Amino acid sequence: MKKMGWLIAIGYSLLFGMEGKEIFDTKCASCHDYYIPFNELKRNAQSNNTLLNLKAPTLNQLSYGVRMNIGDLKADEETQRMEVEAFVEDYIAAPHRKKNVVPSEMTKFFPAMPSMEGRLNEEEIEALSNFIFDYDEAMVIEHSAPAVDFEKAKALAKQENKIIMIRGVLPYCKWCIKMDREVMVEKEVVEALLKDFVVVKTDVALEKLPLGMQSLGTPSFYFIKSDGTTIIAQTRGYREKQEFLELLDTIRRQAKQ
Ligand code: HEC
Repeated sequence: MKKMGWLIAIGYSLLFGMEGKEIFDTKCASCHDYYIPFNELKRNAQSNNTLLNLKAPTLNQLSYGVRMNIGDLKADEETQRMEVEAFVEDYIAAPHRKKNVVPSEMTKFFPAMPSMEGRLNEEEIEALSNFIFDYDEAMVIEHSAPAVDFEKAKALAKQENKIIMIRGVLPYCKWCIKMDREVMVEKEVVEALLKDFVVVKTDVALEKLPLGMQSLGTPSFYFIKSDGTTIIAQTRGYREKQEFLELLDTIRRQAKQ
């Protein structure tokens, strides 16, 4: 019976991944807020934390900070997860500014974090660390216009008379991630995309682009008419919010021609 209980508990945490979040709720959330969009955090830092009055970097800042700075980004994901776990374990026992992964212009107004040495066991640290590792990406996906595969996009575009936008990306392409976090989650961008576009995200190292298009590098954007076969435009490069909205406007006009 005892064994069954354990199995159920493990199965439950695997299914719902709740454990890491629960630990964060009880041990970290009194100081660290959850998700705040990057642009708001930037405005807050520029106003010396008077806008949001945060007590500590937010969870999405921690998540992005460890993901981009700890361990070998080109190694396999399991290896990086272990390196991040070692970092989190060390940081909560012996916090020090010198080890920070969140840029100092974002954290300079916070007091030092108190040590929590001995307050978490190994399993808790592992679960917590995995939760932190995944959080930023999960939030970006949640706050962006949903992406579907090309076949589904073709069907939707035809049905709803929308333009297909394929985003060419690579994992750990810094400008792709910057665009995800700073542009794609912005309300006006999400609204513009939901209204007139169907989004496809393609890892250009793993998948070919449709219609014989060649990857232009990353980040890149490939626009196709609602018929699923007529290419409207292909373009490469990071764009700020306003520039990106202008690009979408241009594409809308071109799609009508
Ligand atoms: C009493 C408030 C408080 C609690 C509780 C707290 N922290 Fe912090 N934490 C801070 C502050 C303030 C900072 C920013 C200053 C610093 O880095 O010391 C910080 C920074 C960090 C950093 C470093 C960020 C960087 O730039 O490298 C990590 C990692 C971190 N916290 C993880 C955690 C985790 C995980 C928990 C829960 C187990 C936790 N903290 C609980 C206040 C807190």
